[in-house]
This record gives sequence, C-alpha cells and structure tokens, in this order.
Amino acid sequence: MPLTPVHFFSHGSTMMLGEESKSADYWKQCGDEALAQGIKGVVIMGAHWAATDDDTIEVATNPAPNKSPVAYVHPDKYNKYKLNPDLAGAERCIARLQSEGFKAKGNPTFDWIHDTYLILIRMFPGGCPPTTIISMNSYFDPHYHARVGMALRPLRGEGYLLIGSGGAVHNLFRNVWDPMIRYGDNFAQPTPPEPWALEFRQSVEDALCSGAGPRLRRAVTRLMKHPLYRDAHATDDHFMPLCFAAGAAGAVEDEQAEVEFGAEDWELTNMCNSQYTIGSWKQPVAA
Ligand SMILES: [Fe+2]
Repeated sequence: MPLTPVHFFSHGSTMMLGEESKSADYWKQCGDEALAQGIKGVVIMGAHWAATDDDTIEVATNPAPNKSPVAYVHPDKYNKYKLNPDLAGAERCIARLQSEGFKAKGNPTFDWIHDTYLILIRMFPGGCPPTTIISMNSYFDPHYHARVGMALRPLRGEGYLLIGSGGAVHNLFRNVWDPMIRYGDNFAQPTPPEPWALEFRQSVEDALCSGAGPRLRRAVTRLMKHPLYRDAHATDDHFMPLCFAAGAAGAVEDEQAEVEFGAEDWELTNMCNSQYTIGSWKQPVAA
C-alpha cells in the first residue's frame, strides 16, 4: 500500500477551535481527503503531554478519556464531540516503538487535551476516526523525536494518518495577549509580528519546503540551533511534534515526496500557525 501523507499542524491558541480561519479550512480539507481515502486511523503527537522517564514514550490507552477544558471557547464547540480511542492502534504503536528500542508503555488514565482534539474536531467534524495519541519525551531531544517518527513510519503503509500537532512559532511569553483577553480577538494585529518571529517562521518554511527525507530530518532538528530558536520557542514542547513529523517522512524513500505549505494564520501578534503536509494522496510515496 502507498504511504499516507504526514501532517505538521500548528494548533495555535485554544481560540483556533472557536474562530474560523484559513488553518481551520485547511484542517477540514485534509480530514475530508483522509476520509475519502479510507484511512484506518490517526496517530497524533501533540505538544501538551510528555513522558518524564528517560527514553520513555507513553501511548494513550484510556478507553473512555475525558477532555481537558478549553479556555476561551464555548463548551458547545467540543463537549458533545465523541472521542474515539484506538486501543488496537495503541498496541500497534507500542509494539513498533518497543521493536525500535524505545521504552514505550500504555497510559490507561490519560485524558485528551485540546492540542489533539482541537485538530480532530476541525479535521473530522462529522465524527472522530479511531485515534491513537502518543506522548513526547520531556528531555525534548529533537533527534529522539525524529526517531519516534521513523519508528512509526511503517504505519503509513497500513493506512494510518500520522500528525504532529505543535507550533511553527510558539512563544507564549512573547505573544500580545491584550486583544484576546479584553475583546476575545485572537487574530488582532495591532502591530506587525516582530522580526524574530518573521525570521524564524521563514526558516521553518525553508526547512520544510527544501524537501522530505533525511534532509528534512536534518533541517528540522538543526532549527534548534537557529540563533532565534529560543525567541520563537521559549519552551521546546511545541517544536517536538515537528521533529516527529520530519521523522515520519524522513526515510530515503521519502525524498521525492511533495511538501505542501497549506495555510497559515498569525495569532496574538507573534504566534505563527503554519500548516504543512509532507507527501500527498495524489502522488504517494511507495512503501
Ligand atoms: Fe499548545
């Protein structure tokens, strides 16, 4: 079976669930395409859950997870959405990770957070496909997270859609929060984004659009040495899902894959929500 594409989505603020945007339209488009192709399920790494033990990745195995509340969004936008944990997919992920030497284990009590279910609601408003959530590791090693993506890459040949949900430029300390807090306007731009945000956003685009395969892994992991990395990411959590996605599309066989810069929205002046797809349904990479 040809390989499914890999998505890197910047989920942005919680208000991306409640407000319409180009990113939301693109997420829906990607979801529609995936359903039309009959995907078996979704495997998603978010940015809000990290396993704390050395070399450990956790996989959500809670059969009836609750949803963590979403600030600044009316509960009607997410309360009724039925989550669909894929317990068989979780076991498949654990087995793949363990076979590649990771200390992977199930977590039967994990409740889902908006970094993943915001994306699922936007992609699949008519119903959540079977979904497996995998954690990051709190050491935030970019090469480690790329290896997690590589370990799960074979699932693309089994019909699973792999998604990293993080952020291209995501520094909560440097966002301009006033318009959102005072007026509920997350897209207000009273001033342009600051130069460090524009520069790093461009470097992310350059890294991704230079092509998939091993060079993508190198380009993405190297971004952590970018002089403006720490300005763009005060913490590493929203960058790791990009490393995961780069690994999932980081084999030599991925070198010919298309990379699509699908959509983008700036929020809170300095947060850049870029959306990318590596590979495509029209020209899939052979397994
Ligand atoms: Fe987040």
